[in-house]
Amino acid sequence: MCCGEQENATATRNSNGVPSERKLFLVAVLLPQLRVMFWTVIALLILSLVAGGIIYRKVSGRCTSNTRMDGKTVIITGGSAGIGKATAYDLARRGATIILGCRNLAKAQLVIDDIRATTGNEMITAEKLELSDLDSVREFANNIKRKVKNIHVLINNAGTGSPEKVLTDLGLELTMASNHYGHFLLTNMLLDIIKATPRSRIITVSSLGHYGCKNLDVDDLNFKNLSYGTFQAYAQSKLCNILFTKELARKLALTGVTSNCLHPGTVATEIFNKDNTVLGSFLSGLAYLIGKDIHGGAQTSIYLAVSEDVEGETGKYYVDCKEANCSSSANDAGLAKKLWEASERDVKLQPSEIFY
Ligand SMILES: NC(=O)c1ccc[n+]([C@@H]2O[C@H](COP(=O)([O-])OP(=O)(O)OC[C@H]3O[C@@H](n4cnc5c(N)ncnc54)[C@H](OP(=O)(O)O)[C@@H]3O)[C@@H](O)[C@H]2O)c1
Repeated sequence: MCCGEQENATATRNSNGVPSERKLFLVAVLLPQLRVMFWTVIALLILSLVAGGIIYRKVSGRCTSNTRMDGKTVIITGGSAGIGKATAYDLARRGATIILGCRNLAKAQLVIDDIRATTGNEMITAEKLELSDLDSVREFANNIKRKVKNIHVLINNAGTGSPEKVLTDLGLELTMASNHYGHFLLTNMLLDIIKATPRSRIITVSSLGHYGCKNLDVDDLNFKNLSYGTFQAYAQSKLCNILFTKELARKLALTGVTSNCLHPGTVATEIFNKDNTVLGSFLSGLAYLIGKDIHGGAQTSIYLAVSEDVEGETGKYYVDCKEANCSSSANDAGLAKKLWEASERDVKLQPSEIFY
């Protein structure tokens, strides 16, 4: 038999279900080797992520100030979880009187009970606040005004990213309403008390994610024409946090009130998997591997709230307890002014609510 005839014979055997030598080689030798290579690559990847995470946590900035906060009133939005919760723990240890603005009061109460038990500070309470509902924001602000005479620190911390485009009753997109409009209205409404408090500080938690919003269209802040994506809405809202911070700082110049914002870093919190999706679980797992824990993630918020280093500093963006650069859009003063005007219009800010 010549070669051609042999090959034909092999092909015939194959079609009868008898494995060819090539197939045998593939199954017996190559596949196990490929499997070993695949798992080696996965193991190396996980190892480098774990190592990267350890280094990231080690080099991340920490607030080293020992400043006490006795007699000082702090408002924190979204203190029922994550970075806001860790910020509340730290400021409670320093003796602050803290009011958490939370949409889920039962969840907040568990946090309050634990803070009281671990710090011995009893002056921690919560008030109902759903930032995406402007009536709730107005009610919260009015409650606070009835309860306190001073606000030394306001921390606009709460944040979320809606997986789908949802509009509120007022036609505001949910992520923008929670992250930007709610904080915009709240801060404005509290400004009279904040301005009456010496050396008070307004801190807004933004994100490195703001770089994801390249062209902010102040005429379409609620995605009427712009196509919606969770990350696009989140990035836009976080850019708005910085523009708001900087415009507020300009409006409050010479009042003694400072307005700064921050990126907390990558922090393992509930934010990545609020809706229990596969992608959410993956991102959550990744954040646990490479990110900071909530106490590490709260350091820049704490630093801006207590440190003597930032006394009088205003209109700045911080990362890891240091001033940092933000995107060119975030530094655009003209854009910040336009956003302010659009936000005043969209939240229907009343003359009686304007104190800047
Ligand atoms: N984690 C990160 O890697 C990361 C990175 C960059 C920036 N940030 C920013 O850090 C801030 C804190 O986030 P986190 O990571 O700590 O997330 P988190 O664990 O999900 O905590 C978010 C907090 O905000 C509250 N909240 C969300 N939407 C709200 C609304 N509409 N009204 C009232 N409260 C609301 C949540 O309340 P519930 O407990 O009721 O849900 C929770 O208390 C956010 O502004 C986020 O954008 C986080």
